[in-house]
Amino acid sequence: MKYNEEINRRRTFAIISHPDAGKTTLTEKFLLFGGAIQVAGAVKSNKIKKHATSDFMEIEKQRGISVATSVMCFEYNGVQVNLLDTPGHKDFAEDTYRTLTAVDSVILVVDCVKGVEEQTKKLMEVCRMRQTPVIIFINKMDRDGKMPFDLLDELEQNLKIKVRPLSWPINMGSSFKGVYNIYDQTLQLFQAKSKDDEKMLIADLSDKLLDREVGEADANQLRQDVELVEGVYNQFEVNDYREGHLAPVFFGSAMNNFGVRELLETFIRISPTPLARETDKREVAPTEDKFSGFIFKIHANLDPRHRDRIAFMRVCSGKFERNTFYHHVRLDKDVRFSSPFSFMARSKSLVDDAFPGDVVGLFDTGNFKIGDTLTEGENMTFKGIPSFSPEIFKEVVNKDPMKTKQLEKGLQQLTDEGVAQLFTQNLGHKKIIGTVGELQFEVIQYRLLHEYGASVSFVNLPYYKACWITSEDKVKMEEFCRFKQSVLGNDKEGNLIYLAQSEWYLNTERTNNPAIKFHFTSEFKNDEEQY
Ligand code: G4P
Repeated sequence: MKYNEEINRRRTFAIISHPDAGKTTLTEKFLLFGGAIQVAGAVKSNKIKKHATSDFMEIEKQRGISVATSVMCFEYNGVQVNLLDTPGHKDFAEDTYRTLTAVDSVILVVDCVKGVEEQTKKLMEVCRMRQTPVIIFINKMDRDGKMPFDLLDELEQNLKIKVRPLSWPINMGSSFKGVYNIYDQTLQLFQAKSKDDEKMLIADLSDKLLDREVGEADANQLRQDVELVEGVYNQFEVNDYREGHLAPVFFGSAMNNFGVRELLETFIRISPTPLARETDKREVAPTEDKFSGFIFKIHANLDPRHRDRIAFMRVCSGKFERNTFYHHVRLDKDVRFSSPFSFMARSKSLVDDAFPGDVVGLFDTGNFKIGDTLTEGENMTFKGIPSFSPEIFKEVVNKDPMKTKQLEKGLQQLTDEGVAQLFTQNLGHKKIIGTVGELQFEVIQYRLLHEYGASVSFVNLPYYKACWITSEDKVKMEEFCRFKQSVLGNDKEGNLIYLAQSEWYLNTERTNNPAIKFHFTSEFKNDEEQY
């Protein structure tokens, strides 16, 4: 197959949602359709259960299993679908944000009963920041949820994106009868746990067939609703979606396998093929013949007898080949990989080559950190793999001064892996760990002890956000730094950060210091209004 054809037949995406909305169920249905798994329930056991809040070992065990399902590949209608898994547990949200840097589009699952939830908003903010195309799947239509028009308004308002329904439900809950596909003009009638989703072509909604199938009252309601949809929402333009300005919306029920196949088929039809990516030097097109790629995730083996790690690399251009030397830009050295692997649902297999959009697993002995770039020699680094402001901050207390070196090394390596962020506060040179979830502190404590022999405890710190600060006004910046010494520090790369005690403090500082810019991600791009 020609190189361009290989690129054009790839779709790399993630399914994201607030915990419990149905991400795992939908993933599983996709895998069943793609023939990547044969039985339902196979994916379930791999997810980090959101209910396990403090059983760290259990979670790590599940995390271990989840390596195999970090990327799930399958073929559907000749298209190679690379589905990147994201952790279900909210404490691993940062993992999810990073995975989003490696995809070309996402499917966002929303529970029709709960509507937009906290995590839905945060995930959408990350997508918006990167202009990632989003398709929204409103799930659990077999339950009595919010009214469809209300849900659409809620999506537009809370997620700050224009939406366009491409399907429309006929009732919901116990009287849910089916979904009319506005895009294809087909009607699909609901049967709980339906396997074969027979569709009926209803090109003209005034067709009496509709009344016979769903009853006159529901048929009339559907006619009115669709008329309203057509009146309120603009015609669907695929480019608006691909540019990240418009989210098409589908309704269905993942558990009942309803509306899932049409979602998958529409997704394959409209979703973008591997996109060009920005580096610090230039934009890299997938069609370039020289290979380039970046590391977006590192997974450590927790077994102390096997200290290897797996680095997940997204191929951005050219063809990646096994046993070929590539340039590790940050370390300025050439490296080659004798056993890179790809993923096929639950199993890993050795790969000889990979194309743009593919994700390759590389065995790593500590050479990689998140965001590292590999090329055929060009010195450039992929952008858009930022750190986000953590939400929980704790000071690291070294309980065994004899192990200071080990602690330093452990903290460096764990934070390279992206388990947490490390800051040094100006005042007293305190080492501060920042995360988005409590669970990471358990992970860090356990791993520092078992892998590096360093024993630590943590002291809670009253911070709410760490903001990266910049200013074009040198004098104002120096003045701010002089006055705010105690709440300033640096991230691992030496960038200046401000530790805000609360939203109020942050807003006050912003108002009082208009010359200073407060950023919520380490890559300062259009992120002023984030969070
Ligand atoms: P997540 O990965 O987003 O966290 O969600 P998951 O798929 O695990 O789904 C969360 C719960 O919602 C599960 O129930 C699942 O069965 C249920 N669910 C998913 N899709 C639908 C749907 O279309 N309709 C209805 N009514 N429920 C749905 P659970 O009780 O937490 O797990 P389980 O005992 O069913 O495995």
